[in-house]
Amino acid sequence: MLTITPSGDILGATVDGLDLAQPIADDTFAELLVALGKNGYLRFPGQTLESVELKAFSERFGDIQAGVAKPSKHVDCPGVGILSNIKVDGEYIGFPDAGQDWHTDMTYREVMGFVNVLYCLQVPRRDGKTLGGTEFANMHMAYEALPEEMKSRLADAVVVHNFEKLWEYMRTVRKSGRAPMTDEQRRQRPPAEHPLFLTHPITGRKVLYANPGYAERIVGMSQQESDDTIAWLVEYQLQERFRHTFTWAEGDVVVWDNFGTLHRGIADYGPDEHRLMRRCQVLGTKIFDPAFRRSVSLPALAA
Ligand SMILES: [Fe+2]
Repeated sequence: MLTITPSGDILGATVDGLDLAQPIADDTFAELLVALGKNGYLRFPGQTLESVELKAFSERFGDIQAGVAKPSKHVDCPGVGILSNIKVDGEYIGFPDAGQDWHTDMTYREVMGFVNVLYCLQVPRRDGKTLGGTEFANMHMAYEALPEEMKSRLADAVVVHNFEKLWEYMRTVRKSGRAPMTDEQRRQRPPAEHPLFLTHPITGRKVLYANPGYAERIVGMSQQESDDTIAWLVEYQLQERFRHTFTWAEGDVVVWDNFGTLHRGIADYGPDEHRLMRRCQVLGTKIFDPAFRRSVSLPALAA
């Protein structure tokens, strides 16, 4: 039997009684979507999945985004990436540094990122403590707690999101060893504009959509005003009261909502303490689609 148990904290719920390697009925999937919007992430413990099964489950949520970097030769299924600090023959088998600063994924796409699906295969431990957690921040709460003056002044604000902002930060500040983006990569990742206060496609409530990783400027403001406003919003939305840490276990599949949350990987483990995840990044190609929304009993979106 399917049970969904909220974590008791400001984000997260555990889903028991579902084998993600099996097809999921539409009414069950509809229930999962509502729980995802409400809780920000869903954890499905004790899963055993092949990459193709992880991909099939992820594609229930939308189309998978292909990366701009050449996939690792250890990828065994297109669209299923590897996050890991494990090296084979002196080379990382996947992205070792992905997501270690606050951000949410794929806001730089015209049809934005909807969910990430991560499958934990190995997690580092030291002295009985599990390391390499993922920290989330609750953007429904952050919007609701904004001062009324900010809510009205920025009610119609539009933000430019640029993939290159985080890429350059990782390259120049974090010395991640990435090469600068090529013109071809820039062509594949042009900036996109989205409302600062986004109506969440599941909850219908507003979320603060001011991605610290990719929010580059606010349309119509001077550079100074835009920089100051984004800096204020970033500091505001990362306050402790909006934050929650998730601790992984092998066999966990976690689906998180990129609209309603921010996240970062906690880099508290060393090069010999291995972490291995398989990941699908899923775009909002279905969640905004009227036919899909009808199929999972979600109301039509306002034009
Ligand atoms: Fe991420």
